[in-house]
Amino acid sequence: MNDYKKYSLSIRLIHWIMALLIAIQFVTILYAKVMGEEGSLTFLMIQLHHASGILVLLFLILRVVARNIGKYPELPATYFSKREQMHAKVGQYLLYILMLFMPVTGYIIMDSSPYNVHFFQFAMPDIMQEKESTMNVVMELHEIGAWVIGFFVLGHIAFVIKHHFAKRGARLVRRML
Ligand code: HEM
Ligand code: HEM
Repeated sequence: MNDYKKYSLSIRLIHWIMALLIAIQFVTILYAKVMGEEGSLTFLMIQLHHASGILVLLFLILRVVARNIGKYPELPATYFSKREQMHAKVGQYLLYILMLFMPVTGYIIMDSSPYNVHFFQFAMPDIMQEKESTMNVVMELHEIGAWVIGFFVLGHIAFVIKHHFAKRGARLVRRML
């Protein structure tokens, strides 16, 4: 049966670009942590962490706009119970909140630190005053948020894979390709 509905091209593109950017966030910071503070590659990784994090925020804005224009394909009621549809929806909203929370807290850490936020060599707007206590608190929040978004992304992938194979006719993965 080929009656599944795809997400719009813009949502599909943004979904995969953002998944890649978020993966870059974890790889860059893990590299920096494993290799230590010294070294030009570590410096590049940290720069990449900031730049790709800022891109997450920009793409998130585009994504919210794309979601609100045009048709949005709900999960097919023939395959998903009301409860499963509700779980999927709550999970998606939490992912959206986390995709906002992470770049915003990341930006605040850098903005309240003695350094400016950079998008590679371009200086970003300096919004906050330098304040060590703010930086420390928000750093904690950013670290907790990183665990939470990591957990939810893994849960999301598990949900998709499980239902893709359990309800083959729904073509879950195809909807996003
Ligand atoms: C989706 C966006 C982001 C994700 C998923 C993310 C993820 C992470 C992770 C996993 C860590 C390591 C936490 C730990 O120590 O346990 C981290 C640390 C950090 N992030 Fe982000 N981040 C994001 C955006 C940003 C942005 C936009 C900035 C700044 C402009 C930023 C600045 C930092 C800083 C300064 C640290 C601390 C590095 C250190 O420990 O020396 N992050 N982030
Ligand atoms: C950082 C990683 C990811 C995030 C933040 C994320 C987030 C989301 C969100 C919010 C949606 C709802 C549609 C939308 O509003 O765009 C969605 C749908 C979807 N995602 Fe992901 N995703 C990630 C990675 C993945 C990966 C690795 C896969 C591969 C298994 C995947 C497969 C899907 C599929 C198939 C859908 C459509 C589900 C449906 O039909 O409703 N996602 N994702």
